[in-house]
Amino acid sequence: MKLSGKTLISEKDIRKRVRQIAKAVAAGTPRGAPLSVLALMDGAFMFCADLVRQLPMPVRLAMVPLPSVRRGGAPARIPLPPEFPARGADLLIVEDILDSGQTLAALRDHLRLLEPARIRLAVLLDKPVRREVDLTPDFACFQVPDRWVVGYGLDWRGLYRNLPYITWVEP
Ligand code: IMP
Ligand code: MG
Repeated sequence: MKLSGKTLISEKDIRKRVRQIAKAVAAGTPRGAPLSVLALMDGAFMFCADLVRQLPMPVRLAMVPLPSVRRGGAPARIPLPPEFPARGADLLIVEDILDSGQTLAALRDHLRLLEPARIRLAVLLDKPVRREVDLTPDFACFQVPDRWVVGYGLDWRGLYRNLPYITWVEP
């Protein structure tokens, strides 16, 4: 594997698009009502930090570890902090990338049991050609081709999360 020398999505384009997505989230939320943002770690850390700063409503934030199902993650055992009640909450799940969709579908099914008022899903990236389950994000910043993308929170074997832009690794 080798890091591509090219940029897939620039820092400037990310900034612009995140601002648009924040506006769309706000437009779909009753004015002044709180939003419970559940950010999935580690991949969503940068996207979430940028997104919540653009949101006008009071935000309750939980950053919880959830590796993909493929990497052994168990959505049904997600550790929600006590100060983040799910029942009746207006939940926004924030994730780095929607790939097969297995992880988020399992998480959504689990969270539904906790009876939130609603669940919306915001992803930075969407790789629709890889989808294995019926899941469409409410908000997606960018669609990406079937490549292993890294940067802006996304990793390859733990590396490259710090890049401020998105690129890919060559097989
Ligand atoms: P899914 O369950 O197949 O949708 O897996 C989604 C998770 O796999 C994401 O949250 C990422 O952690 C990881 N993932 C999938 N594709 C990529 C990629 O291209 N780059 C980095 N991580 C990825
Ligand atoms: Mg992830």
